Amino acid sequence: MTEHDNAYHGDAGVIFAARAAEAGLNSLHERPAMLRMVGEVAGLKVADLGCGAGQLAAILSAAGAQVTGVDGSEVLVDAATRAAPEATIVQHDLDLPLEFLADDSLDGVVCALVIHHLNDRPRFLAEIRRVLRPGGWIVLSTTHPTADWGYFGGSYFDERWVTRSLGEATMEYQLITMSTLINEIIDAGFVLERMLEPQPDEAMRTVDPERYERYRSDPIFVILRAHADK
Ligand SMILES: C[S@@+](CC[C@H](N)C(=O)[O-])C[C@H]1O[C@@H](n2cnc3c(N)ncnc32)[C@H](O)[C@@H]1O
Repeated sequence: MTEHDNAYHGDAGVIFAARAAEAGLNSLHERPAMLRMVGEVAGLKVADLGCGAGQLAAILSAAGAQVTGVDGSEVLVDAATRAAPEATIVQHDLDLPLEFLADDSLDGVVCALVIHHLNDRPRFLAEIRRVLRPGGWIVLSTTHPTADWGYFGGSYFDERWVTRSLGEATMEYQLITMSTLINEIIDAGFVLERMLEPQPDEAMRTVDPERYERYRSDPIFVILRAHADK
């Protein structure tokens, strides 16, 4: 465990697992957009880093990928093991090296809403590049920097740790600018292919009309696809 361990331990994991299973922001907005950016995965070896309760790992497994899901939270590793029984789920702190994954061993990596929780993003991205085969891809989402700026206020350029509630629990993450996010990926040896600022799926209109209207106009997530330049 690292000094600043932001995995969703204890109650945070329980609350997140319940939310992740509901129809809402994750299932009808961020996750379908991630899947559009990922594309076909049949026969591919894919890691889901920060797999949470395992919904994405389950979908990728069902689509024919050989999936390794990784998360630091024991609660969420248990949930992911149940949700994605065909995947291999590993409990591990993503701020530490991915020593259980060999060099050049993966076709792709998905990393949904995790990187803003980590202490050393450049080291994490370097590890992802190491485990990807030459040309292997990463699809990574995070909270949209302008959404965080709107929520927390202050200077957009003041990159700092913040705490936000997750029901009765809290979570910590780092605010970063869009330039930092994109340049760290490029500096780690990736070639950017595509960027998406997704809007909610139409199904969200009936499930949660208020959020549907808000997020049709306000960006809340950003998703990037890149490949390893090696
Ligand atoms: C917002 S959730 C996203 C989960 C999942 N990717 C999804 O989209 O449903 C963030 C996840 O990152 C994990 N996480 C945060 N910091 C971590 C760390 N240092 N090591 C491993 N997992 C971490 C949390 O436990 C949590 O599952």
